Amino acid sequence: MSLIRGRFEKEADEKVLQYTESISFDWRLSHQDIAGSIAHTKMLAKQGIITAAEGKAIVKGLNEIRQEIEQGKFKYRTELEDIHMNIESRLAEKIGEAGGKLHTGRSRNDQVATDLRLFTKEMITGAVGKIRALQAALLKLAEANKDVVVPGYTHLQPAQPVLFAHHLLAYFEMLQRDTGRFSDCLKRADVLPLGSGALAGVTYNIDREFVARELGFNQVSNNSMDAVADRDFIIEFDAAAAIGMMHLSRLAEEFVIWSSPQFGFIEIDEAYTTGSSIMPQKKNPDVAELARGKTGRVYGNLMALLTTMKALPLAYDRDMQEDKENFFDTIDTYFTTLDVFTGMVKTLKINALAAREALEQGYLLATDIADYLVRKGMAFRKAHQTVGKLVSYAAAENKPFNELKLKEYRSFSELFEKDVFDITIESSVAARNVTGGTAHKQVRQALKAAKKLLGGVIDR
Ligand code: ARG
Repeated sequence: MSLIRGRFEKEADEKVLQYTESISFDWRLSHQDIAGSIAHTKMLAKQGIITAAEGKAIVKGLNEIRQEIEQGKFKYRTELEDIHMNIESRLAEKIGEAGGKLHTGRSRNDQVATDLRLFTKEMITGAVGKIRALQAALLKLAEANKDVVVPGYTHLQPAQPVLFAHHLLAYFEMLQRDTGRFSDCLKRADVLPLGSGALAGVTYNIDREFVARELGFNQVSNNSMDAVADRDFIIEFDAAAAIGMMHLSRLAEEFVIWSSPQFGFIEIDEAYTTGSSIMPQKKNPDVAELARGKTGRVYGNLMALLTTMKALPLAYDRDMQEDKENFFDTIDTYFTTLDVFTGMVKTLKINALAAREALEQGYLLATDIADYLVRKGMAFRKAHQTVGKLVSYAAAENKPFNELKLKEYRSFSELFEKDVFDITIESSVAARNVTGGTAHKQVRQALKAAKKLLGGVIDR
């Protein structure tokens, strides 16, 4: 007979068991569940709610169950519904009567919320660690290619020359904000719900602060009804992961574009590409493409949980069991994406020559030439127009700027002099010497700051 069907005469229908069970996925909370139960038991014994001997027996039993799980010997049973009942029932098998005292002053509602918060806190640490590793890989790649200049784009049209390191550091910034979002999420995840009971609190003289300290929670929840009904912390994690995936999908897209033969700026290591089943010449950037694709799933997981939680009446509702599968999927997808990206970035090869060729073909110095005219007294709007005409002339002649003669320049404006030839890709980059700009001096500083942020470790 089930531990919780005291009032029933019938067992649950087999299909209902299958429909309502969560053990097929919430087994992932087993360690958190045991940790929560041990802290709870110690508190019950300390408060004299159970005897010291009972407390000892329960803790010993739970530790043994932990071992069984670690060794793969624990048998998860669907008819026991979830991880909480699976562990409790195994405890009863092992230690008998005393096992039935574990659940004193507790409900599965505050129990599952506690497990999930413990789990989320660990996953936040995991996410930040993986983001750091990718940041380190990007930083290392940037440092190794400090002087490489690539075309910068807007609208995916060649715009202005930028240092490759500058471009990579843009992703470093995004990833930095991602860590910020996870740290922020941690503040609200770091609250102990245990002690809230089913919804209204419990009738025993419990010590919630003690349990919070045992489990490493920063504070206890203020309102028992909110505590068992709140899944904001998962939604926040899902949102942070969705934004994180959005960033990775943008980097993925750049890798796809840059590695195409038309660009050829980078070569993705063979270990991170795949072949075609029909076209022998292909080396496809599937990892990057899948990251782009999986981003959709991670967004979907966020929307799914928001929708599950929408309009739920207080306090706990069984709908909330649907919080887990998507959450686990987000974690798995996001974490593996971060891992493969770190590997891909670590092994990425830069083709500076191809970037140089693209730079020379694309009239990327047009803004610099307009700025040149402005410095000689022309209004910027007029200069913009003048250089526009110059570009269209050069394109018609099929010549890059540096193949035009001074005479040709001067047919567009008398302000052009020999020093117009001093405008080069290098001078263009160097000229953007403002905070946050692409000038070598600025990027050197940014690299230094990024390295400092990572604690000087860029080889992870
Ligand atoms: N498996 C449940 C969940 O994940 C545990 C809480 C069950 N509580 C209840 N009142 N049935 O939400």
